[in-house]
Order: sequence, then structure tokens, then C-alpha cells
Amino acid sequence: MQNTFLGATYEFKNPSLLEKIYPYINYLEITPDSISTFDGKRSYIPNEIIDEIKALSADKKIVVHGVGLSIGSFDGYSEEYLNLLDSLYDKIDFEWHSEHLGYTKVSGESLGTMLSLPRTNETLDMICERVNEIMKRYNKEFLLENIIRIVPDYKSDFREAEFMNKISESTGCGFILDVYNLECDNYNHGFDIEGYIDELDLSKVKEIHIANGSIEDGFMLDAHCGTVMDSTIELTKKIINLPGNCVKLINYELLDEAIPLLGEDVIAEEYKRLNGIFN
Ligand SMILES: [Fe+2]
Ligand SMILES: [Fe+2]
Repeated sequence: MQNTFLGATYEFKNPSLLEKIYPYINYLEITPDSISTFDGKRSYIPNEIIDEIKALSADKKIVVHGVGLSIGSFDGYSEEYLNLLDSLYDKIDFEWHSEHLGYTKVSGESLGTMLSLPRTNETLDMICERVNEIMKRYNKEFLLENIIRIVPDYKSDFREAEFMNKISESTGCGFILDVYNLECDNYNHGFDIEGYIDELDLSKVKEIHIANGSIEDGFMLDAHCGTVMDSTIELTKKIINLPGNCVKLINYELLDEAIPLLGEDVIAEEYKRLNGIFN
């Protein structure tokens, strides 16, 4: 098994929870969009939060995981997101940064969700060009994450893993493999998880996401609101034991909204359990 470490997403709103899970984690995953403030003209990351990240980085590794880049929007990705990332890049030493292979905006209008891309030659060229631009702008490793498929698939030129591999081959970017998202796609669409993992270039998977969600009207959603299912843990164990993988971080994703529902003690116990399994 690789030397993997556990991480947590942190939004700087729950210091008491952070204190409880602190012994069990080695990484903190920061989402620029969630820690930013809007002053009526622009979004920015407050200095107090920058200072807090700096203090935490003394003994936890920091990784950056955005949600607002919208790399797949036909009319371009979000400069506003990159401005936020610029402000972190200048002040914080993070290990790598990442985003989702999808889009959240159409013609500048927010969709309120994230949709997966048609896997065509045209999309491949567009995404590779943009990944190259981003990797040129920041001297840091950049990872793309698989998202769940909400709407039916568009006619494709590539299989899912083949498409990811092509992007990496052409740009040098790595991957976040969200294991729970694979399980959602399997539940919702009969997605072939085994085939995906067999085909994906595991030497590019630097980070794994584990989470739990909910089933609404028969549809499994990546709601990030629960403790991790056994199936997710088993699948993750299987992946990190496969030859050639380079997974460094297993991040347990939990939305801030889920904290009062689960309770801090239950969450701390979950990190402890996961630490016992993966660290
Ligand atoms: Fe994500
Ligand atoms: Fe994820």
C-alpha cells in the first residue's frame, strides 16, 4: 500500500471541529470560493483567513480544490476564480491545486450545479488548451476530478477514463479520483467502475475523494452529508493497493451544512476510524 494520508476540507467556520479532527489528518483541503467574501464589487479572501492558513500550514499540508473555475464553459473559464487562486498562490505554500472536469456556468449564468462534459474531440482540444494555460500560470501541479453525471450522456468519441487519460497525456495534469462519485454513477446509470479503474492511468491519481450522500427520488447524489459507506472504503483500499498508483492524499469530504446534522463527535470518530484504516 502507498504511504497515503488523510485530509479534511476546511472552510474556517468550525474551529472546535478542527481541533477534534486535528490529530487524525495530515492535509487540509481549502476551497478558494468557499472562503472568499464579496464586497459588492469583487470576491477576495480576507487577510484573517490567509493568516490562519499560514499558521495551519506549519504542521498540515495545504491543497487547494476549487469549485468555480468552470473549465468546461464554452465561453471560457472563470477569471474571478483564478483571481482568488492568484491571491492564495502569492501568499500560501500549497502542495497542488485542483478543479472538476465539468462546467457550472452557461453564458455567464450560474447553473446552480455542476454538469459533466460531452467527451468529444472538440471538447478535448478545448480542455487541453485551458489546462495548459492554467499550468503555465501557476508553477504547481494541477489535478482534474471526475464528477457525477446528472443529465444523460451526450454522444461520445471517448470512454470516460480514456478521455481523462487523453487530457493528462497532452497536458501533464494529474487526477483526483472521487470514489463516491463513481459509486453514484454506478447506482444511477449502471456505470462500469471496474472498467473505469482498469483503464484509468493510476500513475496520475494523486488524490482520492471519499464521501457519502443521499438518495433522492431514486437518484444518488454527491451531497457530502454522511459517514463513509463500507463499499467506498473497500473500493478505495483496492485502488491504493493497485500497482503503479501514486495516491498521496485521501480526502474525506463533508459539507459544512452536514456538521450540525451529524454532530462534531460523530465526525471526529469518523476521522479517527478513517485514520486507522488509511494512515
Ligand atoms: Fe470536488
Ligand atoms: Fe470530490
